[in-house]
Amino acid sequence: MAERETWASRLGFILAAVGSAVGLGNIWQFPFKTATEGGAAFVVVYLVAALLLGLPAILGEFVIGRRANLNAVEAFDRLDHPAWTIVGAMGLLTGLWILSYYSVVGGWVTRYLLGSATGAYFAAPAAYFGRVSMGWEAVAFHGAFMAATAGIVAFGIEDGIEKATKLMVPSILVMLVGLAVYASTLNGVGAAYEFYLSPDFGFIADNIGSIVPYAVSQAFFSLSLGMGAMITYASYLGDDDSLFADGGLIVVLNTSVGLLAGLVVIPLLFVQFGTVPDAAAGGGAGALFISVAQAFATLGVAGRVLGVLFFGVVLVAALSSAISLLEVVTAYVVDNYGYSRPATAFSFGGVLFALGTLSAWNTAWLDWFDSLAYGVLLPLSVLLGVVFVGWVYGPAAVDEIKKGSGTGTTFATAWLWSVRTYVLIGVFVTLYLGVTDIYAAPAIPFV
Ligand code: PHE
Repeated sequence: MAERETWASRLGFILAAVGSAVGLGNIWQFPFKTATEGGAAFVVVYLVAALLLGLPAILGEFVIGRRANLNAVEAFDRLDHPAWTIVGAMGLLTGLWILSYYSVVGGWVTRYLLGSATGAYFAAPAAYFGRVSMGWEAVAFHGAFMAATAGIVAFGIEDGIEKATKLMVPSILVMLVGLAVYASTLNGVGAAYEFYLSPDFGFIADNIGSIVPYAVSQAFFSLSLGMGAMITYASYLGDDDSLFADGGLIVVLNTSVGLLAGLVVIPLLFVQFGTVPDAAAGGGAGALFISVAQAFATLGVAGRVLGVLFFGVVLVAALSSAISLLEVVTAYVVDNYGYSRPATAFSFGGVLFALGTLSAWNTAWLDWFDSLAYGVLLPLSVLLGVVFVGWVYGPAAVDEIKKGSGTGTTFATAWLWSVRTYVLIGVFVTLYLGVTDIYAAPAIPFV
């Protein structure tokens, strides 16, 4: 067997992982979940989750990937635990489910990129979202986004995407900071900061059952956990890398992008609506689009240029994440069954396009797909991985994490016990609350 590739540099791995992690989860989903799930209360739970659950869990995926040196499904065979292939399979399923509607939102971004160039949304940003987010147009743009994703995975212009990704993270940061500064100068942002940054702990206590599953799953989603992506990426990692240091950096960078996006979207929503509008009025899935579009609309020609730049960068972020989702399953099928890469990528792309048309047709479906992913699939998938790393693979995992880290046994053992105990409990509680929440209000559209 040929020597398997490894990342050329530590930076290469970190950038690729951050490229996968930074996507619509941070820029679109985080601000809108914050808006609908209680503002600062949600932010607090999210931050705690990213640090206390996300970091140990991402280290767990790194351990599996680097140790096995193989794709996310077969990794478990290689580690001599074939029964746990279920973790990889669950990850694939979760990733595909999510990609079906991720692509719909990718389509919206594409639509807004064009709309910025022509100024199409300038006259009535909120009404514009209502028009392009559902129906035939949304289906068409969803198709275009999915085709682009499958095309890149099939024919591999990863080179280009990789270069774009290197530029993407810095440009996203610059643009979000710029927009956040702009937003801070507007009248009436005080209430927005209050809502976004000053948590009401009583509110957290009262709404714990719905905040926790959304905030914790948001942290997992945003860190690309529970979908085999980080296992796959870490499988190309050399033994001299410190998993701790890399994981920590990825968590911090990824979380910062989400927080910044919130600093843009929440104030712009408040300035426009005087409050956080409810989902029907554009506070839900439309939050990013309506708020940012409104800001660009007030800037005239400069707004067009900024709009194109902004949605262009968001599109690259969305594509780089979507590619990594589709790549996990494509790599597995190509390696294992020997099917051709283009046929595999386009077949999955076609099926997911069909599944996603529901979400593109009506955002009520998108909400339903999203709540199932957050309430059940993501926490379940992460839970299985955590049980495996903690209780099944335990001592070998400690071994692996010590490699290249310069950290001693004590630290590594502390990590293992955190995974075995409170991380496991935390993810379990998240799953339990998520399932109860959905059970109480299944919200299946049109039923
Ligand atoms: N983390 C990405 C985002 O926030 C989504 C993603 C999940 C990408 C899993 C790849 C794998 O948009």
